[in-house]
Amino acid sequence: MALAKPYKDVPGTTIFDAEQSRLGYHLNQFCMSLMKAENRARFKADERVYLDAWPMSEAQKEAVLARDLNRCIALGGNIYFLAKIGATDGKSFQQMAGSMTGLSEDDYRAMMIAGGRAIEGNRTRGEVSEATPTPDQAKVTASVYTSHVPAIGVAIDQGKTGDPYWQPVFAGYEASKAWIKADPPDVIVLVYNDHATAFSLDLIPTFAIGCAAQFQPADEGWGPRQVPVVQGHPELAAHIAQSVIADDFDLTIANKLDVDHGLTVPLSLLFGQPAAWPCKVIPLAVNVVQYPVPSGRRCYQLGQAIRKAIESFDAPLKVQVWGTGGMSHQLQGARAGLINRDFDNAFLDQLIADPATLAQMPHIDYVREAGSEGIELVMWLIARGAMSDAPPRVVHRFYHVPASNTAVGHLILENT
Ligand SMILES: [Fe+2]
Repeated sequence: MALAKPYKDVPGTTIFDAEQSRLGYHLNQFCMSLMKAENRARFKADERVYLDAWPMSEAQKEAVLARDLNRCIALGGNIYFLAKIGATDGKSFQQMAGSMTGLSEDDYRAMMIAGGRAIEGNRTRGEVSEATPTPDQAKVTASVYTSHVPAIGVAIDQGKTGDPYWQPVFAGYEASKAWIKADPPDVIVLVYNDHATAFSLDLIPTFAIGCAAQFQPADEGWGPRQVPVVQGHPELAAHIAQSVIADDFDLTIANKLDVDHGLTVPLSLLFGQPAAWPCKVIPLAVNVVQYPVPSGRRCYQLGQAIRKAIESFDAPLKVQVWGTGGMSHQLQGARAGLINRDFDNAFLDQLIADPATLAQMPHIDYVREAGSEGIELVMWLIARGAMSDAPPRVVHRFYHVPASNTAVGHLILENT
């Protein structure tokens, strides 16, 4: 079943939703470039040359050259962005709006002076929607939980996985690598937190979903990890955004996002060092750096909304949802190095058996018991919420201390 979009029935109207935004990203970014006088001058000097510098479709470029705003909107343009073209042409907003109605400028102005367009006859297309065949839907097959310690990435990248210090850590992932190789997913929704990499203190989204086609490994100060570029799934990502925002979860949509160790280390742990990652990845970044951070309850509910979104996507995709970060660790102050084995293992037990109760745990319990950075564990509840309500099958469970400053926890659950 496709998402309900009742606004598609409103005549002469295109709602700029996540799907349209994905379609028109470069077109709208081109429009934004016209906010600088030097760019307007370059555009006016040779429009075709200027447009060719943007990775827009040919249809989008032709629509801009023809100043066909309706066509631009159909191709993902948003009127607030497209207005920059009109402004560059010296047109008023009324002239631009009128150009889309089939009326002359004078007739449009006269219509507005006479009271504007009547609502009668403009509420619905009045078309009877035809039944469409229902293809197989996407489904959540499994969830994976793992720490994403940056030092693990360094150990992999520097060929130290067999060192005595690291060998016990990587031994805990051997079964996981075999499991995922035997039945790889088509897409992973990978829940992680950005570590002051893509998001500075200028912008702190609580939840951000990556809707781009690709995500570059970030330079976190030591140069980017030499791992494959992450290939996204823009269609499913936009669909998830559309669905969960309609369900009252206010995701930030990230059309450009460099991904740090929080996302790439889990991929390395499960897939090793391939030339290309074997599946698509949708990043879902959660703020756990600056308080207020989302509650476990909110994370669990978001996971449930993501499950609903995935299961309404019209393609037979096998999707896994991964929750990363944790387990207990504190990286700051006199309590740095805190490890609480009892808390960590109780967390794993309850995550498997009773996640709804676990989701009620307040922030202070994470901080006090698992350390200030142990709050990353709330992200595991998103992955758990994405699983079906039936008890899951525990494929693999692993716990080890230490990896650098933290306890390493790892769990694989399959839907039965
Ligand atoms: Fe982290």
